Amino acid sequence: MSQMQGEIISAGAPSSNLGNYEEAYANFNWEDVEKQFSWYETGKVNMAYEAIDRHVDEGRGDRIALRFNDPTREETYTFKDLKEKSNQFANVLRSQGISKGDRVFVFMPRSPELYVSILGILKVGAVVGPLFEAFMETAVKDRLEDSGAVALVTTTTLLPRVKRDELPLLHHIFLVGKDIEPEAGIIDYFKEMEHASSDAEIEWVNREDGLILHYTSGSTGKPKGVYHVHNAMLQHYYTGKVVLDLKEGDVYWCTADPGWVTGTSYGIFAPWLHGATNVVRGGRFSPGDWYDTIQKNKVTVWYSAPTAFRMFMGAGEDIVKQYDLSTLRHILSVGEPLNPEVVRWGYKVYGHRIHDTWWMTETGGQLICNYPSMPIKPGSMGKPVPGIQAAIIDDNGKELPPNRMGNLAVRTPWPSMMRLIWNNAPKYEEYFRIPGWYISGDTAYMDEDGYFWFQGRIDDVINSSGERIGPFEVESKLVEHPAVAEAGVIGKPDPTRGEIIKAFISLREGFEPSEELKAEISRFVKEGLSAHAAPREIEFKDKLPKTRSGKIMRRVLKAWELNLPAGDLSTIED
Ligand code: WTA
Repeated sequence: MSQMQGEIISAGAPSSNLGNYEEAYANFNWEDVEKQFSWYETGKVNMAYEAIDRHVDEGRGDRIALRFNDPTREETYTFKDLKEKSNQFANVLRSQGISKGDRVFVFMPRSPELYVSILGILKVGAVVGPLFEAFMETAVKDRLEDSGAVALVTTTTLLPRVKRDELPLLHHIFLVGKDIEPEAGIIDYFKEMEHASSDAEIEWVNREDGLILHYTSGSTGKPKGVYHVHNAMLQHYYTGKVVLDLKEGDVYWCTADPGWVTGTSYGIFAPWLHGATNVVRGGRFSPGDWYDTIQKNKVTVWYSAPTAFRMFMGAGEDIVKQYDLSTLRHILSVGEPLNPEVVRWGYKVYGHRIHDTWWMTETGGQLICNYPSMPIKPGSMGKPVPGIQAAIIDDNGKELPPNRMGNLAVRTPWPSMMRLIWNNAPKYEEYFRIPGWYISGDTAYMDEDGYFWFQGRIDDVINSSGERIGPFEVESKLVEHPAVAEAGVIGKPDPTRGEIIKAFISLREGFEPSEELKAEISRFVKEGLSAHAAPREIEFKDKLPKTRSGKIMRRVLKAWELNLPAGDLSTIED
């Protein structure tokens, strides 16, 4: 990434919620944020109440909470509508004996029912497990199995991807669809909703009780369940205020799917804690449809990702002029490095600065950001959110001076920090191996002005179009293919997607390399795991570089790919 530290786009809105960054940072206190909530006194809380019902209790029930559009449906729901519908679903869940602490998963495309389900699950005190709609059999099974999920909300279309006979704990499936045949363990969502009362008791939980379990990828092992608690609300609320800069009357659009953390923390919790109108659009990316979504809904605050902005840039300026985007006030980005040229382009074409934000599934909320009231240095992720202390440290925990690259680390704790890796305490502890710090796994440096600049990952995690992919999960699937003897997977730099997945494969005896075989292997991963995990490039090799203990050395594969020196090869097999 071309980085020009000297370049600055001056501060935007002087009337933003944060005000002067330095002052806000110096005077910050989490207790001031807690006092905004009634549960500051009682200690008993429920995210669904604070996000939805509270607005009804405080006289905002008729405001529009959800504007849903996709190519087939356009619907709006007020806060009162969502309160009642989620009460109904809470009653449906209770009628099946689902209660506090149970893991209940949602596996469906974006739809009003998805949002109602998530809120209903929270209302009974259960923990939500969101699954991305593109997941295939293995990806779905691994996550349901690891979490011990007892129930799942899914659609008739996606149900065939759920291996029910291999999931003995999964007792209830709530099925969204038409003409559902009666079957043991299958509950007709719409039929049950029809009969359910729209009054429900909320399960008041402790602030440290479970809220959501997001599965995400590391470089080794199966995906890990990142567990968040209701207390995360403080971070969602505060960053919704000072980073999203949400104000009364805002129409907010986060383009992420709730299968990923951005789609829940900032696609559900933050906007609704602020009573904003939340736009949800299903379907695939298309520049025209997306600009139309802004125009039609009069979006004011827009949160998207570098890949999308790069594709908009590729689609050019002319198409922008065909839409009225004049309602936009604030644009933000997350998920992968935001190229300086994209920031410059956005500033020129949209007339707005694109505000980069940095955070992770594990951090639960935004930690390093650009704010409307602060100058932007294109290419920089910005500065720590008030209440957050970030630093660059070496492997011994020593803080490094400005302009030195090292581990991007954050002082523990903060309200939305993950509280567990489900079933995997050693993995959790790895993040906190240096006392007092959370180690992100990203490398970065901080400049003299306190701005942070992303440099890369210390592990082999791949970031393709902002989606985080673990090479191990892909390799495990690849070697299930009858032709594949061994596989090593890396992220290959790509101008649009950031990285694409490239697989190096050695074939079993009796198989010959061919373009057809490449396509077949890629399809095998797509159909078994998910489309975004399928290699876009495959290269056959007679032998893969391995350590003496038999581990494939992805670092060497990457060096091959990029024509770089392979570094220390003392552990290589031969
Ligand atoms: C990367 C998404 C550069 C980073 C919320 C991080 C970024 C991983 C940025 C987390 C950014 C996220 N600039 N890289 N602004 N934001 N990343 O868990 O490597 O899906 O560790 O969370 O994405 O991805 P995750």
